[in-house]
Amino acid sequence: MIHDQQAAVDVGTAYGFTPGSPLEQIARVGPGTPMGEVLRRYWQPVALTDKVTQTPQRVRVLGEDLLLFRDGTGRPGLLYPRCCHRGASLYYGGVEENGIRCCYHGWVFDVEGRCLEQPCEPELGLHRDRVRQPWYPVTERYGLVWAYMGPPERKPVLPRYDVFEELGPGQAVHADDSGFSGGGPAELDFNWVSHWENVMDPFHVPILHARFSGNQFVPEMAIMPEVSFSYLDHGIRSESTRTLPDGRTLRRVTEAVFPNLRVVADPRLSLGACDVLGWVVPVDDENFKIFTLFRSADPDRLSQMRTAFGGKRWAELNDEEHRRMPGDYEAQSSQGRISLHTDDHLTTTDQGVTMLRRMMARVARQVADGGDPPGLVFDEKDELVCVRGGNYIEPLTDDSAEATP
Ligand code: FES
Ligand SMILES: [Fe+2]
Repeated sequence: MIHDQQAAVDVGTAYGFTPGSPLEQIARVGPGTPMGEVLRRYWQPVALTDKVTQTPQRVRVLGEDLLLFRDGTGRPGLLYPRCCHRGASLYYGGVEENGIRCCYHGWVFDVEGRCLEQPCEPELGLHRDRVRQPWYPVTERYGLVWAYMGPPERKPVLPRYDVFEELGPGQAVHADDSGFSGGGPAELDFNWVSHWENVMDPFHVPILHARFSGNQFVPEMAIMPEVSFSYLDHGIRSESTRTLPDGRTLRRVTEAVFPNLRVVADPRLSLGACDVLGWVVPVDDENFKIFTLFRSADPDRLSQMRTAFGGKRWAELNDEEHRRMPGDYEAQSSQGRISLHTDDHLTTTDQGVTMLRRMMARVARQVADGGDPPGLVFDEKDELVCVRGGNYIEPLTDDSAEATP
């Protein structure tokens, strides 16, 4: 009897606990993985335009090691780095007017992998058109170099965004690759899903960013919001409603847009449509980068928006301060290099996360079955995307979001 009672009390100790596992179908990004194939169906930012020069640089994107450079005419190129002749790395190659020359036997490849020259061969290679260095299409817009790493016959149009097409006086579109505004290293050292799904987690804001760590944005963000989530064709939307101390109602609309775009309304609550967009680009399964575009007359606006930790910047914090005032980086990176999703206990306020994980799994299945993922545009006349996320003041009765289970 006594033994039985003790067994009941002691249920749940860590003794014999076996950790769970990641949701493989959404976390993995390599070629042939379910979500990796979804991500490859869209143009992805891979570098800032300003950083792509005639010096070849190694880049790792979606688990693939590639070589990025700009040829002498200014065209960016993204090539598989192992030379198709006998494998020397083009990292040691030299950029020329029309391409890159391998250091070993001098083969020259243009930005689309065509072999232009085989200098040891008669007539510079009579059969050089029979080889092709593996390459990916790249293009530039808004200060970013974008790559399309998916099936060539399904290549979509690179979208334009209304907030970056309509500029106010003195405004320009600026690009940034220094990580997320909450602080952290420029290349984040954990799985991209832990960050992207956080976009659909508005309930962490009043806790982590206000009550626990002290006010990291504006005092109004400490108010626990009423939240509704809704499925969109191309992602998930959350609407967080707060009654401000002056009686006005603030509606904060944030979207996770497929496959990895964050449309996060300004946590400082500036009103209007969101003009800071961030792409969560996996480097591989355990690392990612954020490429941020923002519209401003001030190129330093983004760095001024960085979260303040008791008056300090994230990089200035010591260990004790990281523990006392954790931000997004501490919360998300500590979920693990890849989170063990099957150990999570999702509750009603995790509805946005649940919806996003379900939608990712559904879209991954759709793509694996030969379908197109949502939001792709194949016709240039449809390329303009209207951004709906933002902060809006509206009457309390106005709530246009309908949660779809
Ligand atoms: S290995 Fe590149 S030219 Fe021979
Ligand atoms: Fe956050």
